[in-house]
Amino acid sequence: MIVRRERPADHAAVRALHTLAFAQDPVTGAIRAADVVPEARLVDELREDAGFLPHLSFVAEDGERLLGHVIATRGWLEPYGTPVLGLGPLGVHPAAQGNGIGTVLVHALVAVAEACGERLIALLGAPEYYRRFGFVRSMDLAVEPPEPAWGDYFQARLLSGGPVKGAFRYAEPFERM
Ligand SMILES: CC(C)(COP(=O)(O)OP(=O)(O)OC[C@H]1O[C@@H](n2cnc3c(N)ncnc32)[C@H](O)[C@@H]1OP(=O)(O)O)[C@@H](O)C(=O)NCCC(=O)NCCS
Repeated sequence: MIVRRERPADHAAVRALHTLAFAQDPVTGAIRAADVVPEARLVDELREDAGFLPHLSFVAEDGERLLGHVIATRGWLEPYGTPVLGLGPLGVHPAAQGNGIGTVLVHALVAVAEACGERLIALLGAPEYYRRFGFVRSMDLAVEPPEPAWGDYFQARLLSGGPVKGAFRYAEPFERM
C-alpha cells in the first residue's frame, strides 16, 4: 500500500469510496441510499471551495484500487480569523477496514500539516479512535466546537505552529451538511 496526494483522476473513485464507507450514518446507524451520502458530496464541494488545500488530500491505494481517503481544509478560529485546519471526511473501504489504513492516512496528514507550519487540526469524530493520534477534547485546548452539543466528539490536535484558541469555524461546505 502507498499513500499519495489525491489527483483529479481519483475524484470519482474517492466519491465512490466515501459512499461505501459512510453507507451507514455514523451518528444514527441508519443505512443510507447511495445518492444521499453527505460525506461523499462534501468532498466534491470542498475541492471547489476557497478552503481547499490540495497538499492535504491523500489517498491510500494498493496499486489497483483506492483503499482510503482523508482530507483537511482551511478552518478558522474566531474572533481573529486565525487559520487552522478541519479534518474530514476520513473513509476507508469497508472491505479494507481494520488493517491500519485509516491510521496511516491520519499520521500522514498530521505530519504534512506539522511540516507546513499549521497550528491546529480540529475534527468531529470518535474520541476512542482519534486519541491515538494525540487529539483531545477541543475545549481542553480552549477551542470551542461549532455546535456546543458536540462536546467530547469535537476534538483538536495542537501542532508546533500553535498554541491558539477561539471558536472553530469549518470551511463553508461543512455548513451545508
Ligand atoms: C473509522 C475508519 C476511518 C478507521 O479506519 P480503519 O483503517 O478501519 O482503522 P485502523 O485499522 O487504522 O484502526 C483500527 C482501530 O480503530 C478502531 N476504530 C475503527 N472505527 C472506529 C470508530 N468509529 N470508533 C472508535 N474506534 C474505531 C478499531 O476498533 C481499531 O482499534 P484497535 O487498534 O484498538 O484495535 C474506518 O473504519 C471507516 O472508514 N469507517 C466508516 C467511516 C467513518 O466512520 N469515518 C470516520 C468519521 S470520523
